[in-house]
Formats: sequence, structure tokens, C-alpha cells
Amino acid sequence: MEESKLLYKGKAKKLFKTNDLKTLRVEYLDQATALNGIRKDTVIGKSILNNQITALVFEQLKLKGIHNHFIRLISKHEQLVEEVEIIPLEVVVRNVSAGSFAKRLAIPEGQELEFPILEFYYKDDSLDDPIINGDHIKILKIATEEEMTTIKNEAHKINQLLIELFEKINIRLIDFKIEFGRREDGTILLADEITPDTCRLWDKKTNDHLDKDVYRRNIGDIVPVYQEVLHRLEQTFN
Ligand code: C5P
Repeated sequence: MEESKLLYKGKAKKLFKTNDLKTLRVEYLDQATALNGIRKDTVIGKSILNNQITALVFEQLKLKGIHNHFIRLISKHEQLVEEVEIIPLEVVVRNVSAGSFAKRLAIPEGQELEFPILEFYYKDDSLDDPIINGDHIKILKIATEEEMTTIKNEAHKINQLLIELFEKINIRLIDFKIEFGRREDGTILLADEITPDTCRLWDKKTNDHLDKDVYRRNIGDIVPVYQEVLHRLEQTFN
């Protein structure tokens, strides 16, 4: 696999074109950000952890029938993925009140929700990723109604599978964010990443945060926390 043109540099990873038109090389970065990039720190070791965590989770989801972009690990901090056109939508699934939801609606953090709820945020840094609804998605032509039906169904399925997966390693899945892409043939595929950067994960016994809130709230070092998540996943799924 010869290389490679930088296609995109995000807050936690870089995407490179490969010689194969249908694949991209993803390089995870030793970087943590909060407040949409306003706060930024180097965190040595984070890239390796997130690369491996998302690989393992995407492999487990694939085994359960969730089509996704992950192909294989290339190195400790790089992976090969299928190239898709990313739909500019952050799909957030919530099982328990936390974060912006708890704040916006004054529902105490930690309160179990009666049913999993979906939220959509428009991926646009210049607008600060605003929350939007189905009508906004239609007006902005972000996705078709048929695509949104698929995305909603997949998001609920993924939530159920992730609840079960994390339950096996004594972690409560509070909420998470996923992204989807379009293949050239129009099919919808789970893309991006599923890591402690993009999920809220609470230890079942202690309620300790095993996710990026440790960084966002300045309550400790995320490396040992992410290591703990990877360690538990590897012990159960490798
Ligand atoms: O901050 P908020 O409560 O809206 O986040 C909901 C979930 O989405 C959290 O798990 C958070 O980690 C994730 N998220 C993300 N990327 C963003 C915003 C939220 O991964 N840009």
C-alpha cells in the first residue's frame, strides 16, 4: 500500500488516501480536545488506545450484522477503512441523562431514560454543530427520508448491541455519538469511530467515568482510564 495524500485532519485523527480508490488510512492522534477544539492537549498513548478500541468494537458489531467501514488494523495507531461519503450528521443515542441533554432539559445526570432517545447534530464547526430535527435535515438536504429511516433503525440496533457489549465488561452505556457514510451505490454504512472519546461509559459498580468526561471535567488522566476500557474489552472479546 503506497501512499498518500492527506484528505482530512480532524481533532483526533487524520485521513489519508491510499492507492486503492476504495480505502482510506486513518491515523489516530495523541491529541484530546474539548469545547469544539478550543481546549487542546497532547495526550501520549491515546492514539494507540482509541485505534484498538474502535477496531475491536467495530469488529464485534460486524459479527452481529452491523455493516461498517472498518477493514483492518495497519499499525498500533493506524487502521484501514472503506472510503465513504460522510453524512454531516452526528447521531447521538442516549440511555441515561447526561452532558448537554441533562443541562439543556434540567434532567438530573444519571437518570435512566424511559426509552433510548436519538438526537441529530449538524456537523458544521462554523455553526458549532447545532442540534437539528428531521425537518432541518430535509431542508438542508443532509439525507433523504429513506436514508434517515435506515440511520434511525441502525442507531437503535447499534445501541442495543453496544449496551450488551459493555454490560459484559461491567460498563453502563450512558450515551454515544456515531456517524454514517454513503457508499457509491447509495448504501448506508456505520463509519467514524466508537471510543471513550465518543461514548459515555460508567463503571457499573462505582459509577466512575471511563470516558472523555475525565478530560472534559479535568478530573484526571484519560490514558489509564482508556487503558482500562481496552483491557476489559480484550479480556472478554479476544
Ligand atoms: O455533550 P453531549 O451530552 O451532547 O454528548 C453526547 C454524546 O456524544 C457523548 O457520549 C459525547 O462523548 C458524544 N459526542 C461526540 N462528539 C461530539 C459531541 C458529542 O462524540 N462532537
